[in-house]
Amino acid sequence: MDEATKVRRACFAQLLPSALPDPKPAEAYAPSNIALSKYWGKRNATLNLPLNSSLSISLAEWGTTTKVTPIDGNQDEVVFNGTELDNHSPFASKMLYFTSLFHRDENIRFRIETVNSIPTAAGLASSASGFAALTQAMAKAFHLDLSNKTLSILARIGSGSASRSFWHGFVRWNKGIRLDGTDSYAEPISTTWKDFRIAILPIDVRPKSQSSRDGMNHTSDTSPLFSAWPANAEADCATIEQAITAHDIEKLGETAEANALAMHATMMAARPSLCYLKPESWIALETIWEARAKGLQAYATMDAGANVKLIFLENQETAVKELFPQANIICPFAHSA
Ligand code: PMV
Repeated sequence: MDEATKVRRACFAQLLPSALPDPKPAEAYAPSNIALSKYWGKRNATLNLPLNSSLSISLAEWGTTTKVTPIDGNQDEVVFNGTELDNHSPFASKMLYFTSLFHRDENIRFRIETVNSIPTAAGLASSASGFAALTQAMAKAFHLDLSNKTLSILARIGSGSASRSFWHGFVRWNKGIRLDGTDSYAEPISTTWKDFRIAILPIDVRPKSQSSRDGMNHTSDTSPLFSAWPANAEADCATIEQAITAHDIEKLGETAEANALAMHATMMAARPSLCYLKPESWIALETIWEARAKGLQAYATMDAGANVKLIFLENQETAVKELFPQANIICPFAHSA
């Protein structure tokens, strides 16, 4: 077993009972999330411990449902959106590695079926909702009644942003300072903002050229701008939390947009340069900036991909649809009281 796996296993062992009962079939759903203040850079790559806190909005019914079923035989099975995958494919091997951290027993085999409700055409392949749903399904399979805090810590080891996918609405992932990561988990921000909207502008729906994990490591290793990022991102996270509490869309939008552009600036300055944004992403940004100069109140954010996401309130929805007829609009609080 390699060193990183030993460390991850120790982390799981600390949070799970030493002996697990026989597993049963289980299913779970987790929403995807979009960071308004980004996670970018790690203080520990083995446990995905971030250099800065981050804050996200969950995408309600846009997410992942994962079913895990214990099976006989000597092979696990992984199915993604109805297609049986080769266990050595990147997706299947990541899922299987993660489940093995959970059960620690080489003789247990699972069939893992993952269904994304996120339209493929939206270009949002979500490792966040994927790992969150898998973590929850595995906990249920082993009859464990884990708190969302514990689930958040475990899912973080699969994918950092997954730590934020255990709640609806706004969620903050506190970076924590402990070496074992037991204080690095997400928590919900108890604010309901009924007229808050997110729009996804699909720009390039093909799989990205470089994973966010690789892009993040390359940037923190080589970008001369990176040293300015963690403190700046921590401050943005605090400002955005205050703006959420005050329902101040202007402060929230301006800070989220500036935070995303700062993250992309660190990547563009990496050596060699890394740019996930495509010409169409820049055109969308120009369009938003021009419209904003004429009064539109909508702001942009982009992750490790070309697609642009917009943040605005319901009273801007008609204007946003006119400007971007292809936009997918999400109401994150549609079902909350
Ligand atoms: O969780 P990962 O390893 O897919 O990284 C996510 C990185 C960003 O999406 C760019 C930012 C974020 O906070 O979600």
